[in-house]
Amino acid sequence: MYHEIEFNKIDLNLDPPIEEPERQYYYIAKCQKWVKEFEQKQGRLPKACVTTFGCQMNARDSEKLLGVLKAIGYEETDSEKADFVLYNTCTVRENANQKVYGKLGFLQTLKRKNPNMKIAICGCMMQEADEIETIKRSYRFVDLVFGTHNIYKLAELLAKQIETQKQTIDVWEDTTEIVESLPNQRKFSFKSGVNIMFGCNNFCSYCIVPYVRGRERSRNPEDILNEIKKLAADGVIEIMLLGQNVNSYGKTLKQPITFAQLLQRVEAIDGIERIRFMTPHPKDLSDELIAVIAQSKKICKQIHLPIQSGSTEILKKMNRHYTKEQYLKLVEKIRTAIPDISITTDIIVGFPGETEADFLETLDVVKQVQYESAFTFLYSKRSGTPAADMPDQVPSEVAKERFHRLLTEIQTTSSKLTEKAVGKTEFVLVEEQNTQNPEMVTGRLSNNLIVHFPGSIELIGTIVPVKLIKAKGFYYLGEKEN
Ligand code: 5AD
Ligand code: SF4
Repeated sequence: MYHEIEFNKIDLNLDPPIEEPERQYYYIAKCQKWVKEFEQKQGRLPKACVTTFGCQMNARDSEKLLGVLKAIGYEETDSEKADFVLYNTCTVRENANQKVYGKLGFLQTLKRKNPNMKIAICGCMMQEADEIETIKRSYRFVDLVFGTHNIYKLAELLAKQIETQKQTIDVWEDTTEIVESLPNQRKFSFKSGVNIMFGCNNFCSYCIVPYVRGRERSRNPEDILNEIKKLAADGVIEIMLLGQNVNSYGKTLKQPITFAQLLQRVEAIDGIERIRFMTPHPKDLSDELIAVIAQSKKICKQIHLPIQSGSTEILKKMNRHYTKEQYLKLVEKIRTAIPDISITTDIIVGFPGETEADFLETLDVVKQVQYESAFTFLYSKRSGTPAADMPDQVPSEVAKERFHRLLTEIQTTSSKLTEKAVGKTEFVLVEEQNTQNPEMVTGRLSNNLIVHFPGSIELIGTIVPVKLIKAKGFYYLGEKEN
């Protein structure tokens, strides 16, 4: 186990081990030596800043990357005026890439002032060959580039960069490897994401994820359960199980297990009080899973069920493998089994070929399902995906106009729903001090909605009953009950 590693006993005169994670422990020890030299010269420890773009997967990866940097000896900082700045990138939508290049320009000016500074980029954007070429050509000052499949190699790559002082690039097309027992630095003491699988096999026609995250690989249930047990012993009470399509969990393991069975085993772990998961694909959400959620005392009564479009025609072009009617039937089945469940979704507006009639189907689903909230996206053309070459790309003014109509519809339903719960007392996991008012704290309900209420920071990390006093669209103001 990582916690028991005595890095000072690792003999750096020997060749690095071939096996993982031992090989990375060796390189962590090697980098530690370099940090000691830095400290002696500069009279301080080097500082590292990790910035995350994109989804929960990336957020979890960043915790692992920061864990390795801290094990090496870096001090964490939020400021980019640091000695090591790492961007963990997203490439799901085009503007995310533009944002990264803009920020890199700014980092270059910082590096001129601090020549010791190292700049690193990793994540989904780096899995695209064109982006690597751009970095090689126009961003020579970037020291380290790696992808999504080898984040566990950070210490090894950093050691190589320190040794060669050259731009170091290591991006793999895919992998079957999952390396366990590496350090990680959690952002919250009381809640944590836990990867249950990596990659995606669905190939929705608009989505770049299967190309940049590779094929589906499930972690062994024992590794997942051990990680959660350790988190619980460490004071974590809420966990979020992460996978691009959790319904496929376990299918390819030597001893197959279903996602619902995994959830039951997680439920049995003492200390864990709330279980969330993300994301199930509507095409293969099983009756077994619905039954397990319905019976569970710990699984939050919220399900994120991306619809993407309400038009069966568009869903077909999106390669989603369900129709509007099948989706609505599924929602009905879930609501019958779990009446108090809140449903959230992802919707893309302006997919190629989307007509006004198709869009009205989407609005119709939104009205029928009554989503608690929704992530809405303007379709973004990702080269390399089938949708990028489809005819009838929707003009951006048309897509934007539809997008605004959709937002208005969603806001109307979600404020109606939040209004309904006013006056009720619900349990809130307190997450942080309120950013506007230090006498207040902010937390989340089981359905993931935010509540602000007067309270002290000692409440952070605990679950308390709060009376919901006022609904404010996507959040509540409340009062703690005694
Ligand atoms: N354009 C717009 N939205 C997209 N998403 C994925 N790919 C694209 C794209 N090319 C959205 C989907 C997905 C969410 C994570 O991002 O709605 O569920
Ligand atoms: Fe992308 Fe579809 Fe896989 Fe989700 S399920 S990551 S939208 S391809």
